[in-house]
Amino acid sequence: MTDLPRPGEIALDQDPAAQRPDAGLVFIGHIETPWTSRHECPRSGRRSDDLCKVHLKPDYAPGLASVDSCTHLILLYWMDKARRDLIVQAPAFDSVTHGVFALRSPVRPNPIALSVVDLVAIDGPTLTVRGVDCLNGTPLLDIKPYFPRNDSIPDADVGWHPNRTHPDRRSTDL
Ligand SMILES: C[S@@+](CC[C@H](N)C(=O)[O-])C[C@H]1O[C@@H](n2cnc3c(N)ncnc32)[C@H](O)[C@@H]1O
Repeated sequence: MTDLPRPGEIALDQDPAAQRPDAGLVFIGHIETPWTSRHECPRSGRRSDDLCKVHLKPDYAPGLASVDSCTHLILLYWMDKARRDLIVQAPAFDSVTHGVFALRSPVRPNPIALSVVDLVAIDGPTLTVRGVDCLNGTPLLDIKPYFPRNDSIPDADVGWHPNRTHPDRRSTDL
């Protein structure tokens, strides 16, 4: 899936997908969603009410012990259909370019995505969750508990974004 470059975008000389990997990953399952094209997917799972299923491979099911006590989970998944070579990008909603590490774009050297999801139900190796934003069949990398005291920073901001938390604060104030 190669998109045409937008003005100002910069691609790496060597696609990370073509390099010898520094580490290996194992997919522990996959995510079942209603979406088969990127345009149907919500841009952020927190804006979606759709229920989705997280299917763990059976060997990993014992790792779900005590997960039923969690209200929210962090899912890490692998954006398998994303190109990996764009290091400077213009998001669809913004003509200005930004470095990939200032973006939540799926297009990145290691296409790892995360979502904080509501845990709705557990049935054996299958979780029902609300709050993901990936294509049907997206490979699952990890599941972690969401700890509100550690993981929530209400005062945090992304200064370049139109929906920034503190429009009056300049990024140089940080
Ligand atoms: C903006 S990303 C955010 C991902 C994640 N919530 C994060 O913050 O890391 C979500 C978008 O990635 C795209 N996407 C979803 N699943 C994908 C996949 N398996 N491969 C490539 N792109 C995908 C869709 O366009 C979706 O709207």
